[in-house]
Amino acid sequence: MYVVTLVGYLLIQFGSLLIYPFCDCEVESAIYNNTSRATSRNSHFASHNQLAVAQIVPVNLSASAKQNQSVPEVGEIKQLSSRSRKKNRTTTHRRRGRRHRKNVEPFDEITTPPSPPSYANMSKEVLRQIWSLTPHEGLVHARKEIENAPLVQDDPDLYAPLFHNVSSFKRSYEMMELILKVYIYKEGKRPIFHQPHLQGIYSSEGWFMKLMEENREFVTMDPEKAHLFYLPYSVRQLQWALYVPNSHNIRPLSIFLRNHVNMLAAKYPFWNRSHGSDHFLVACHDWGPYTLNAHKELRRNTIKALCNADVSEKIFIEGKDVSLPETTIKNPTRPLRNLGGKRVSQRPILAFFAGNMHGRVRPKLLKYWGDKDGDLRIYGPLPKRVSQKMSYPDHMKSSKYCICPMGYEVNSPRIVEAIYYECVPVIIADNFALPFSEVLNWSAFSVIVAEKDIPRLKKILLEIPLKRYLVMQTNVKMLQKHFHWHSRPIRYDLFHMILHSIWLSRLNQVQVHESAQ
Ligand SMILES: *[C@@H]1O[C@H](CO)[C@@H](O)[C@H](O)[C@H]1NC(C)=O
Ligand SMILES: *[C@@H]1O[C@H](CO)[C@@H](O)[C@H](O)[C@H]1NC(C)=O
Ligand SMILES: *[C@@H]1O[C@H](CO)[C@@H](O)[C@H](O)[C@H]1NC(C)=O
Ligand SMILES: *[C@@H]1O[C@H](CO)[C@@H](O)[C@H](O)[C@H]1NC(C)=O
Ligand SMILES: *[C@@H]1O[C@H](CO)[C@@H](O)[C@H](O)[C@H]1NC(C)=O
Ligand SMILES: *[C@@H]1O[C@H](CO)[C@@H](O)[C@H](O)[C@H]1NC(C)=O
Ligand SMILES: *[C@@H]1O[C@H](CO)[C@@H](O)[C@H](O)[C@H]1NC(C)=O
Ligand SMILES: *[C@@H]1O[C@H](CO)[C@@H](O)[C@H](O)[C@H]1NC(C)=O
Ligand SMILES: *[C@@H]1O[C@H](CO)[C@@H](O)[C@H](O)[C@H]1NC(C)=O
Repeated sequence: MYVVTLVGYLLIQFGSLLIYPFCDCEVESAIYNNTSRATSRNSHFASHNQLAVAQIVPVNLSASAKQNQSVPEVGEIKQLSSRSRKKNRTTTHRRRGRRHRKNVEPFDEITTPPSPPSYANMSKEVLRQIWSLTPHEGLVHARKEIENAPLVQDDPDLYAPLFHNVSSFKRSYEMMELILKVYIYKEGKRPIFHQPHLQGIYSSEGWFMKLMEENREFVTMDPEKAHLFYLPYSVRQLQWALYVPNSHNIRPLSIFLRNHVNMLAAKYPFWNRSHGSDHFLVACHDWGPYTLNAHKELRRNTIKALCNADVSEKIFIEGKDVSLPETTIKNPTRPLRNLGGKRVSQRPILAFFAGNMHGRVRPKLLKYWGDKDGDLRIYGPLPKRVSQKMSYPDHMKSSKYCICPMGYEVNSPRIVEAIYYECVPVIIADNFALPFSEVLNWSAFSVIVAEKDIPRLKKILLEIPLKRYLVMQTNVKMLQKHFHWHSRPIRYDLFHMILHSIWLSRLNQVQVHESAQ
């Protein structure tokens, strides 16, 4: 319905648009070069629906009780990370000795090796018992363990201030490592299925697909053992394969997905058994949510990891669906190239933004702050005269705050870019469910500004005391590893964080009274 209405609306409004207006497509990844695209989508959906979405989170990872750990001062952080860095790399256990070692690129292994998972320490007998549980019993067991999580203090791998509750996150993560089994449907032809695209602003869906399909820890060949069923397709590839340029019509994409799901539901008992609610998909392309519209259960029940996590559109459901981080990958063989930023004292710019005027927020930002204030460097596409002196990444590395306004859709690759360049993100996107917000405490490392407060932007930033800024900037650095792609995943990295949030959503389907028995 939305699509039909919107397409009609847009045809009237922007009859001459060359590109389907929902899509930031690769324009953003072109380092924000100027292009001749139309500049406003004038969002049709933008009812300011204030996060009024049912909170279905029985596993309470967001308990707001006071953290026991106080936030360390900046100096203490160094000790913390160097202490964990000393751990001998060879202590990184490989789960059940079956870790896949193909396609290892040497470039991206810059992160501290994490500790071995807790099951490395469990007796064979206990492990046997746990692995003999049915999928449902396994979920109930995990729920109980999380509710009775031991208090975590001073964990070498997890920096407590980043999390709502580091104890329950850690336990939930460990239960995932111990229990979770994922079945991947073999059906579906390349390139739409099974062919990850690893470059550009939508690469999250490709990276997740590649790493999930290569994975040996979580993947099971036996669907009867599975807690989750993965639909391994790419919306990026779906667009390339099925979207007729200039047609302004994504209906064929939705129909294709509907037919695919109906085929799976006819061939196997698994879809009908749960009406799709133990199935999941991972889609970063802007159209991800809209391509689900032709299949009611796919749209409603499936666990959706989406970059376009807009809670006002009623497709993404907060608490059930997973906000997928949008990461710009320029060089797939070196996803972690050129990370890091300058120390705080070498960040003279208060706040920086450059980019195309997509969506409703950016023109407003430019109107109030474009070229008006030396402290705030707010541009459209970065002008040549400026970029000749300082590149886009160098701007981020030299700024205290990086402004991340929504584009055509709520998500923006700038949030993760800012984290990579150690710049505190300032997020302006009213209906955006932030990535991993079920476990991460975004107010510890970002500033969230309401769209209506754009005129007060500078005042808001200046009112943040230096001490608080320093804590946030330190937190951004500690957060980085949770947003890193590795060609061979390591504990707590981006692949595992995404999988954990999907696991958590699945856990939340287990009835509370069952876990209380
Ligand atoms: C954007 O500009 C840079 C530098 O001027 C250039 O190298 C790059 O090819 C451009 N990208 C596109 C998509 O035009
Ligand atoms: C955009 O780039 C083109 C080609 O590089 C240039 O001729 C044009 O002046 C630029 N437009 C703006 C608004 O910077
Ligand atoms: C989660 O914890 C918070 C704070 O302790 C509490 O207010 C909330 O009711 C809890 N939610 C559930 C579902 O138990
Ligand atoms: C975190 O969760 C655990 C287990 O669910 C609970 O026992 C503990 O009180 C919570 N801690 C904080 C700081 O809220
Ligand atoms: C908090 O931590 C301190 C020392 O780190 C410990 O003595 C104290 O018992 C802890 N409090 C709680 C409630 O766990
Ligand atoms: C790591 O441990 C292995 C085996 O215990 C040992 O051979 C190696 O020298 C250690 N490396 C370092 C850097 O400590
Ligand atoms: C592993 O087990 C030993 C002995 O049971 C215990 O002392 C140690 O603390 C455990 N380590 C972890 C990481 O749980
Ligand atoms: C699942 O339900 C659909 C629609 O009711 C039906 O067509 C299909 O045959 C069912 N699948 C199985 C395996 O029974
Ligand atoms: C989240 O972070 C903010 C800012 O640092 C802090 O005030 C708040 O107590 C944190 N919440 C939790 C649950 O830790």
